[in-house]
Amino acid sequence: MFESLGVIGFGNIAKAIVTPLLDKTLLEPEQIHCLVKTRESYENIKKNYKYNINIHYINSEDASLVWECPVKILSVKPQQLESVKELNPLPNQNNQILISILAGVSIQKLEKSFPNHFCVRAVTNIPITIGRGITGISYTSSIDKEQKEFIKNIFESSGKVYEFEENYLDIFLALTSSAPAIISLIVEALSDGGLSGGLHKKLSEELVLEMMLGTILLLKEENFSTMDLKNMVTSPAGTTISALRVLEKRSFRSALIESIIAATNRSKQFN
Ligand SMILES: NC(=O)c1ccc[n+]([C@@H]2O[C@H](COP(=O)([O-])OP(=O)(O)OC[C@H]3O[C@@H](n4cnc5c(N)ncnc54)[C@H](OP(=O)(O)O)[C@@H]3O)[C@@H](O)[C@H]2O)c1
Repeated sequence: MFESLGVIGFGNIAKAIVTPLLDKTLLEPEQIHCLVKTRESYENIKKNYKYNINIHYINSEDASLVWECPVKILSVKPQQLESVKELNPLPNQNNQILISILAGVSIQKLEKSFPNHFCVRAVTNIPITIGRGITGISYTSSIDKEQKEFIKNIFESSGKVYEFEENYLDIFLALTSSAPAIISLIVEALSDGGLSGGLHKKLSEELVLEMMLGTILLLKEENFSTMDLKNMVTSPAGTTISALRVLEKRSFRSALIESIIAATNRSKQFN
């Protein structure tokens, strides 16, 4: 694939991106160089990570090996960007690729922070940790077709990849990266509904999850439209229309739409 991969920040998401590359032997552990901030994380990864990758912490002697890698994934929190860019011992190295997964940080800002790099912005989501992620990617204009292909390969190892113009990445983030929290809230609230009706919480949650899986399969695999499915389970003066009336009265749909807009706007503020 390529000779070595540097990873700046080796937390939950970076592990989820890198591990499938190693599982599928697209890269060997010795080709990976990761940088973490603290000695504590360094020890922890050395002891517990299933592959014997090269791991460094920011004050260790050999930390510059991470910066020498021709392709780097930047996976720290957006607030940590400033401290990372100051660490770069090789700011003038040419033609390296930097793939940032930081929420909201634009390619233009990345290119200012990492001059001489081809910068790529990738937005991924938490199901990447089970190989069911969705990743949206935008590239700087100067990147070539071959480079795009291997960047796509990295993320295709852990899910689906969609290529976008950069101005769509904030809405993409809201819809795919923030929305797992919204879905979790819905599962929790519906389960509480079951609890209120006398079911045990665990059973209630199991029923909600099974119902959701079945519903999603009907929509996705059987190509039902959402309207068809809704009409199929809503009979005149029945139970479902009574439930839907309550949601309409409480502006449920509008609340969801507004929540996506709010997440999009927040993502834009990170830049
Ligand atoms: N969580 C999500 O659902 C999700 C989804 C998609 C994208 N993202 C994005 O993914 C990024 C990482 O998220 P995460 O949840 O994986 O974070 P995380 O688990 O907190 O990992 C952050 C990593 O960065 C390291 N780090 C911090 N400051 C550093 C520095 N100055 N130099 C080098 N390494 C440094 C940390 O090292 P120490 O452990 O030593 O502090 C840690 O390994 C974020 O930008 C987030 O927006 C998150």
